[in-house]
Amino acid sequence: MRTADHRIALGLYRTGHTRQLLEGALEHGVTDLDTAFNYRHFASHRTLAAIADDLLPAFTISTKVGYFPDGHNLAPARLRAAVEQSAEELRRTPDTVLLHNPESSVDAFVDACAVLLEMREAGLCKTWGLSTWDPRPLLDADWEIPCPNVAMVRAGLTVSTGLLDAVDELVDRARIRELWGMSPFAGNADDSIWQTVDTSTFLVPGQQCSALEAGVAAAFALPEVTRLAVGTSHVEHLAEAVSGSRLEVNTETVTAYRALLRERATVSAGAPSRKDH
Ligand SMILES: NC(=O)c1ccc[n+]([C@@H]2O[C@H](COP(=O)([O-])OP(=O)(O)OC[C@H]3O[C@@H](n4cnc5c(N)ncnc54)[C@H](OP(=O)(O)O)[C@@H]3O)[C@@H](O)[C@H]2O)c1
Repeated sequence: MRTADHRIALGLYRTGHTRQLLEGALEHGVTDLDTAFNYRHFASHRTLAAIADDLLPAFTISTKVGYFPDGHNLAPARLRAAVEQSAEELRRTPDTVLLHNPESSVDAFVDACAVLLEMREAGLCKTWGLSTWDPRPLLDADWEIPCPNVAMVRAGLTVSTGLLDAVDELVDRARIRELWGMSPFAGNADDSIWQTVDTSTFLVPGQQCSALEAGVAAAFALPEVTRLAVGTSHVEHLAEAVSGSRLEVNTETVTAYRALLRERATVSAGAPSRKDH
């Protein structure tokens, strides 16, 4: 696994949109931003343009469409309007547009993918793809879609074996060309697992780092992703993620870990349930 191919994206879901954070990101070599039409109460794009119009050309920006003030909706006309509005509000076209959690509206999935391909062909983005928290509802349906350039999925030590296997299946079925990860701490870096689990086990020995840095490194391998979106409002936390992205992961440990997860899931599935007693 080449760490040189790993990039951290600053995820803007619950992150303060400040110029200082964007400047700090660039200082630490973070040139990817991940946002969405609905982030910051539907004002993320406008806010970015207002606070950092001059900095935005230095970033590669991914955004997502699918959530509207009245809920999740993948209707083609609404997606088209959201992509056009995103470019207007950002005052530049985003590099990538992702369908936001398509598993929430499976019936509309195929037509929605066609719209994003159409938007790419119209020059409103360079690449398109899927951002899915849990692809399993998609896998239960029949569909054929044009190959997405990229998919963004949950990554790291908090991801279950069922989810990791579902991502593998999605990549195969949709012929996804590149995989990105998100949420290496499942949204909560204060969780006790980061104090109780020795995350350095996942690294090639001899590298000094914090538990969270090793967690970031492991997230690049579970599943294997080239970009990882981390949410933080603190430049020093983003710098820690960048350090983690440069650590070398022990691929044998990752393989053994995935086998253990599968074994444990099989044992749990076969265990007698409470009502069997
Ligand atoms: N369905 C989707 O499309 C979807 C869903 C979820 C997330 N995402 C994307 O993925 C990004 C990341 O997800 P997320 O923010 O939910 O989860 P996350 O990156 O796993 O966790 C963010 C939390 O970790 C803390 N943190 C980060 N680095 C830290 C460090 N070095 N030390 C201590 N605390 C640290 C942050 O607090 P501080 O601010 O204090 O650092 C924040 O509370 C989102 O912003 C979004 O771009 C997409």
